[in-house]
Amino acid sequence: MSCQMSTREKVADCIRNMDSAMLSMPMDISRIALMARSRDTNADELARFLSHHGSLSARVLKIANSSCFGRSGDIDSLSSAIIQTGFREIVAIALCSGVFTMLSSEGKCSGVEQDRIWKHNIGAGLAANLAAKSVRAPVDGFSMLTGLLHDIGKIVFHLCLPDEYQEVLQCHQADLAPLHSLERERLGIDHGEVGYQLLMRWNFPDSVCMPIRYHHDLIKCPFEYFRQTMILHLADYLALRACIGCSGNINPEISTGAMTTMGLSETRMDELTEKLGDMRSQVDHFLEALS
Ligand SMILES: [Fe+2]
Ligand SMILES: [Fe+2]
Repeated sequence: MSCQMSTREKVADCIRNMDSAMLSMPMDISRIALMARSRDTNADELARFLSHHGSLSARVLKIANSSCFGRSGDIDSLSSAIIQTGFREIVAIALCSGVFTMLSSEGKCSGVEQDRIWKHNIGAGLAANLAAKSVRAPVDGFSMLTGLLHDIGKIVFHLCLPDEYQEVLQCHQADLAPLHSLERERLGIDHGEVGYQLLMRWNFPDSVCMPIRYHHDLIKCPFEYFRQTMILHLADYLALRACIGCSGNINPEISTGAMTTMGLSETRMDELTEKLGDMRSQVDHFLEALS
């Protein structure tokens, strides 16, 4: 028990130290996240803020112009990107890009490992839009953002506890016990909770943090966030089933209750998996633009 507590504390320390080690980037991330929380932020304010951050705005434009959003390079300014792609979508791209840059600069997790997890995250981001459309839920940048960031807790594990996390992954491969349960058992905390703590620290909206926290623990999810969390749970499963990237989870589980509640049959899930599989090149373009 005391061993679990100390490992949990080690992760908490790592999260606390992450932003003090890289002062400027979290401030940018937090500022955009605060804009995302506010009802008063308008498109001009967001465009003005991004225009002061050259490399970030270049990446945002590149992604907004990519096939992921059905474009082929016709957007030439941040203002047009916000009008044509959507305010929340541009916020989502900017936040994902900021988090990607920050975690990549840590350099303790192998590039290959990070790329695999990011591909899985991007796949889940695109799948969240597919799943939301399929159940006639609102499709906006925030549902995509939950997918794009849902497994960042695993990257934090790779950065903070590389040896301990390798052991957890090996154990998962050996006995196929659910990865999130093994994380809780061996590290005292799972990747959903770690991602939640990190994003809350950076002021991300609750509507993004809460689904990430509960995406493997639907039963504990507060009612207010339940629908969004179910969509993320389905999106995660679709990305794993379509074999887009790899998050370390080799035994994906789906809540049949979530499928029933959302009115999704096995046949519909097969169709969505196939559709997502056809979006593989869009995932590659997204990751290329982030890098
Ligand atoms: Fe996960
Ligand atoms: Fe996942």
